[in-house]
Amino acid sequence: MVSNDVLRSALAHTLHASHFVALGARYEGKVRDCYMRSGKRLIVVTDRVSAFDRVLGTIPFKGQVLNQLAYWWFSKTADVVPNHVLSLPDPNVMECIECEPFAAEFVVRAYATGTTSTSLWTHYEKGSRVFCGHTLPEGLTKHQALPSPIVTPATKAPAGAHDESVSGEELVARGHMSRADFDAVSSLSLKLFARGAALAAERGLMLVDTKYEFGRRADGTIVVIDEVHTPDSSRYWDAASYVARIAGGQDPEALDKDYIRRYFLGLGYQGDGPVPAMTDDVRIEAARRYITAYERITGSSFEPNQQEPLSRIARALQRQEGAS
Ligand SMILES: Nc1ncnc2c1ncn2[C@@H]1O[C@H](COP(=O)(O)OP(=O)(O)OP(=O)(O)O)[C@@H](O)[C@H]1O
Ligand SMILES: [Mg+2]
Repeated sequence: MVSNDVLRSALAHTLHASHFVALGARYEGKVRDCYMRSGKRLIVVTDRVSAFDRVLGTIPFKGQVLNQLAYWWFSKTADVVPNHVLSLPDPNVMECIECEPFAAEFVVRAYATGTTSTSLWTHYEKGSRVFCGHTLPEGLTKHQALPSPIVTPATKAPAGAHDESVSGEELVARGHMSRADFDAVSSLSLKLFARGAALAAERGLMLVDTKYEFGRRADGTIVVIDEVHTPDSSRYWDAASYVARIAGGQDPEALDKDYIRRYFLGLGYQGDGPVPAMTDDVRIEAARRYITAYERITGSSFEPNQQEPLSRIARALQRQEGAS
């Protein structure tokens, strides 16, 4: 594990935003800065952290963790589902194939859990037995496994708005995608999830739920884009303590963004109004959790790159330009 001193000194130069004007058209997501040029997309994974569909600040090494972890998962799933990766020119940058993204996100859920208004458990607890077109059995208890993982699509809301969970039927009826594409993407989502859950299980982790994005390459192939099975897009639980914790009425031990969410909820913040500041200690603890997730999932130690990220990325991209 990275020492506290290294985490603390990185607080001063986290990667908040990049502006590489020479790289082509720029698009800023909540976490990633994208540069599009000649069929390629350079994704700079910043240290920004988002929850409640808002950017809440930066976490040391988060961009490096997420980028390297997404790359690890793309490599481990490429035989099941093709993806958008071309190369990793810098610890924080992924060079990808530019795709035509489907106008939806594909969430796969394997457990009856969650606390927000969009969570499966929240609906179930209120008595609803249909979630995004799936009929749920009677008698589920909180955090229990579903009979099998389900695909619950969400429409992508414009910046500032919140995504909306819908059924596949609604997605098709609203013209977001064709029935054939939806069926294809659902089946790819379940294949990715099955691989993810199997590899996580080897590391003593349960893959609880995750969000995928898919797009179409220029040649028509459907590929998974963005990120796969990172702690930002996925929830993991510790398998060893799961049974005892839920038997004792506790929540499972989670390895994900819930720490940040809980911190802000504790301050009474749920995504509306001005964003409260994170303390240094909270940012360090969040970094520790992201790094722990990396190390537990991959089984390798995380090697933080302590160079100032913006100038390092600029140099890496210049080298790449020179080479191509
Ligand atoms: N290969 C790809 N081709 C086209 N778009 C992609 C590709 N990979 C990722 N993207 C898009 O790049 C953006 C990445 O930014 P980021 O993940 O920060 O966005 P976000 O905050 O999750 O969502 P939003 O785009 O709504 O702001 C997303 O809009 C994602 O859909
Ligand atoms: Mg995203």
